[in-house]
Amino acid sequence: MDTALTSNTPKGKTVAAIQGKHRQRVGWLFVVSVVSLLSSCATTDINVIAPPVADGSSQLARGRIIYVTKCAKCHAPEPVQNYTAAEWHTIMPEMVEETHLNPADAAAVMAYVESLAAR
Ligand code: HEC
Repeated sequence: MDTALTSNTPKGKTVAAIQGKHRQRVGWLFVVSVVSLLSSCATTDINVIAPPVADGSSQLARGRIIYVTKCAKCHAPEPVQNYTAAEWHTIMPEMVEETHLNPADAAAVMAYVESLAAR
């Protein structure tokens, strides 16, 4: 049995060395498939999740900055357009509290999400 295995290995490589190479290649395949799975299941484009403000309003722009920074501390930012204005009104009070936003910052985030909410 042993002699059959060793005599079949090319260029005198040991069976263990060949198995090691195989394991490395399987490892890479695993990494590549996990990465492509992760990138295909949800958008990670911040300009889709939280679209930039079109009209140059400084309050909306400020709301967006708070949204993509302070609101992304515990979870990835949710796509703004996943919720209606009514849903944002229910969600925001709790999240504002979680984020410890002052009233002006809370109003800016609220104005920003309202401006883009689902209809
Ligand atoms: C301290 C952590 C924390 C911060 C900061 C935070 N969140 Fe959350 N957020 C959570 C947790 C936990 C949940 C899920 C449980 C829940 O709904 O309370 C959640 C859920 C959500 C949801 C999903 C709600 C639903 O019903 O589908 C949205 C949208 C959201 N957060 C938006 C925001 C926004 C906007 C901000 C910034 C103002 C923010 N979050 C800041 C912890 C946080």
